[in-house]
Amino acid sequence: MDIKIIEEIDSSNNYLKDNYTNLSDKTLIKVNKQTNGRGRFNRVWESEIGDFMVSLLFKNNNYNHSLIAPLSIINTLAYFNINAYIKWPNDIYIDNNKLSGILIESIFQKGNKVCDIIGIGINFRKKDNYLAYLDKYNIDIERFLSIFVKNYEFMLEISNLNLLNLYKEKSIVLDKKVMFQNEEYFINDINLNVELILKNENKTIIVNANELDIKTSIVKF
Ligand code: BTN
Repeated sequence: MDIKIIEEIDSSNNYLKDNYTNLSDKTLIKVNKQTNGRGRFNRVWESEIGDFMVSLLFKNNNYNHSLIAPLSIINTLAYFNINAYIKWPNDIYIDNNKLSGILIESIFQKGNKVCDIIGIGINFRKKDNYLAYLDKYNIDIERFLSIFVKNYEFMLEISNLNLLNLYKEKSIVLDKKVMFQNEEYFINDINLNVELILKNENKTIIVNANELDIKTSIVKF
């Protein structure tokens, strides 16, 4: 992986979107300060200096980053003795608190995907939530980055089926109840497209992460 450090930027995902043609495949941008971090569903992503903010560029690839990215974070946290879980599609939780979010964006040209941009934010330092307690683990961000890169590269070699099994082992949404289009379902399974298989007594449906916002639709956690 080609690692570049940027002191301050609006958003590391924006940076890769603007510069991907001049950058090599498997470039990782780490930023120390982000002034306009973006999250899923057009949400703002707030972070502080000392948080982990990276974006990875993969050109012309077929990797399943929706599985690889959360698993790489989980394994890196595990290396530092922090046990975390995946809340579908790819939020990382400790207990009931969100520690990390992932924003995957793709760039298309003439209908063909030319690259994926995987943005990852981990709020190690954000002071207004209890996760600031991670300070007590005294995680060195540079060390965290090097372990994370090793984990990501390792995950690129694993088959999608094995990745999915690892993902499901760390998922906290399986068997939970959700409301979707005014009907109650339980989450029966997750498929290779990282879609949810929802079931109730009448039917089985498949929903993707753009159709269902788990934050607002989960019945009980
Ligand atoms: C989410 O949970 O909604 C996803 C948050 C993703 C935040 C990261 S921080 C690095 C990268 N740059 C951005 O602007 N967003 C991602």
